[in-house]
Amino acid sequence: MSSLPVRLDAEATSIRAFTAADAEALTEIRVRNRAFMEPFEPVRGASFYTRAGQAAEVAMDVESWLLGRSYGFAILDRDAGDHIVGRIVIANIVRGAWQNATLGYWVDEAANGRGHATAAVGLVVRFAFDHLGLHRIQPAIMPRNARSARVVEKCGFRREGRAMRYLRIAGVWEDHDIWALTAEDPRAGV
Ligand SMILES: CC(C)(COP(=O)(O)OP(=O)(O)OC[C@H]1O[C@@H](n2cnc3c(N)ncnc32)[C@H](O)[C@@H]1OP(=O)(O)O)[C@@H](O)C(=O)NCCC(=O)NCCS
Repeated sequence: MSSLPVRLDAEATSIRAFTAADAEALTEIRVRNRAFMEPFEPVRGASFYTRAGQAAEVAMDVESWLLGRSYGFAILDRDAGDHIVGRIVIANIVRGAWQNATLGYWVDEAANGRGHATAAVGLVVRFAFDHLGLHRIQPAIMPRNARSARVVEKCGFRREGRAMRYLRIAGVWEDHDIWALTAEDPRAGV
């Protein structure tokens, strides 16, 4: 379990815990990026793209954080007055002998290509290993998502293998490559 007001800074990018006040900004980004993100996500209901839907998402993030189940962060553009440009989450945390978690993220299409995802992954890796005491972070990436693969590769993750029909994305059970970094590994980009 961890208390909520957390912020980690890189040069042009920060990550911080969500607050209820973020629902408005998230709704705007989610609506504007709907077509961009749909090919990479589970099917969402219409309510997801409303202010109430995003307020519910933020409330779930805050609750899960307080319970130590998952840690969802806003990704901020420091050069744009800490404007929210994305979300990154350490989820599916299993303690015991595994000390493993998955990693998910997205960045506003309008802010792509500026290194925000790479910086956010670097910061969240630091939080997961140094603060949460996890041992392994394990993102799963569709083979055709070359941009996302590049992000984790830049952060020092290794591709361990392909899991067949692993996640249901946009209504289809998609194969995913399992990438991983353990606490012993050198951390690039952090
Ligand atoms: C994947 C995503 C998070 C990347 O965000 P970003 O902030 O643009 O990422 P970065 O700028 O840190 O790095 C992107 C890298 O991919 C590279 N890239 C861009 N398009 C690419 C392509 N078509 N093929 C290969 N690499 C590509 C960029 O050149 C950059 O690498 P470089 O620094 O070596 O030049 C963003 O595109 C996104 O949200 N996509 C939709 C949701 C998604 O796929 N989430 C991840 C699910 S696993």
